[in-house]
Amino acid sequence: MPNASADALVLFGATGDLARRKLWPALYRLSLSELSELSELSELSGPSESSERRVPPVVAVGLPGPGRAGFEKFVAAAVHDMCGPPDGTVLRRLLARTCFVEGDTTRRGTLEEVAGALRSAVRPVYFLGVPPPRAIATISTMGAVRLPQGAVLVEKPFGNDLDSARRLNASLLKVFSAGSVLRIDHYLGKEAVENLLAFRFCNPFLESVWDRRTISRVQITHCEVRGVDGRGALYEGIGAVRDVVQSHLLQLVGMVAMERPADGTAEAFRERIADALAGVRPVAPGHLVRGQYAGYRAEAGVAADSTVETFAALRLDIDAERWRGVPFLLRSGKGLASTAIEVVVDFVPTEHRLWFARREPGPARVRFRIGGHGGAVLTLNARGPGADPGPVPVDLPLDLADVPAADASGGAWEAYTHLLSDALQGRTGRFVSMRTVEESWRVVAPALEVREAPLEYPPGSWGPRKAADLPGGGGWCVPLP
Ligand code: BG6
Repeated sequence: MPNASADALVLFGATGDLARRKLWPALYRLSLSELSELSELSELSGPSESSERRVPPVVAVGLPGPGRAGFEKFVAAAVHDMCGPPDGTVLRRLLARTCFVEGDTTRRGTLEEVAGALRSAVRPVYFLGVPPPRAIATISTMGAVRLPQGAVLVEKPFGNDLDSARRLNASLLKVFSAGSVLRIDHYLGKEAVENLLAFRFCNPFLESVWDRRTISRVQITHCEVRGVDGRGALYEGIGAVRDVVQSHLLQLVGMVAMERPADGTAEAFRERIADALAGVRPVAPGHLVRGQYAGYRAEAGVAADSTVETFAALRLDIDAERWRGVPFLLRSGKGLASTAIEVVVDFVPTEHRLWFARREPGPARVRFRIGGHGGAVLTLNARGPGADPGPVPVDLPLDLADVPAADASGGAWEAYTHLLSDALQGRTGRFVSMRTVEESWRVVAPALEVREAPLEYPPGSWGPRKAADLPGGGGWCVPLP
């Protein structure tokens, strides 16, 4: 399937929360850009029926209840809430090419209806947006009904630990070929995450200092002010390590730590991420702090004595010549002091003292901003003005929103827009390889075995006090607002 365009998209879970917040808005944006491409083409060469479609016919499968009218209202509201007032023509075109099937995805009858709706499609992409416990049953019913083979998109977390990830993969491989299983980690679709790679590999001055000789530590912070937001029942079976550390944060570790890919192919990139994670030692229990915000146990769906962590801070070490001795410090939590995602790379301060300097230079730093204002801030030492020459730290900020688009695509795309577009076009670079999944579960395995209650922290803080000690001297870098 990879490298061939899909001729249909099947959304299992089409009326769920992820579909509302991410998938329908992404399909609407793709339809919008398809329409503007079509109108550009017809201006140049007259109307063309053969133009490549960004969005093929869609079969949306949701739980029984809303009927066609309720479903259309759901999609329109989702698009309105996430993208603002929609363009009526684009929304109508999207709905007109969507067939709605109501039913249970684990039952033959529902999937036979899907098979009928697919008509002559031979290369559909299936989005498996059903809760993890139903995923394997849905896959085996897909096999039993002999739905046309294509590619399948599977949400994170991929499994619940190493063994269950392997079981899930094995059940997928009974129905799909290995290259057609597209594992989602939406951070791989974020433009600001790809900016990290652009900075590293397209600016030789940075890549040439990217190792333990010049880098003293790497910090990755993912913090959210909000709590579990009504997702308590779901979160109880997951926790911060499974929800964010095993997936999003380890992908970021992989991108900072990876060697240059052997060539410019998606496969070489995916190989290098997996290689980098293969060098990460499993987290040592003494290098892990788990926390739970006060009030979590009172959330709907949460056990009164829950030991699920809403915060995790850890130090990872990498067995690779490039990174020996450089700590990778990770933290992720809900109910914290601010909302941000940052990767901060600190350089070893230079020992050179300028003859006119008043003080030692501080460490230079690159701060990659992944959330909110995506971009980067380069902190360099500069001569201060006037009688005190410093050196003083100066921030050189880059906001990706200020970077002009190189084509007429109309600015930034949200992660799921890239991911759906790639899946429909058979591109695999923004999906997670099974080797990476396995290495990530291996790295966090000791954290999943901890049974003690996490340390309580007040909402709006930076997590348990003990986490502040993890980085040693220098402490955690506070994310920019
Ligand atoms: C999801 C997690 O994968 O990522 C959520 O399940 C988390 O708990 C979210 O809030 C964060 O994503 P983003 O794109 O807002 O950083």
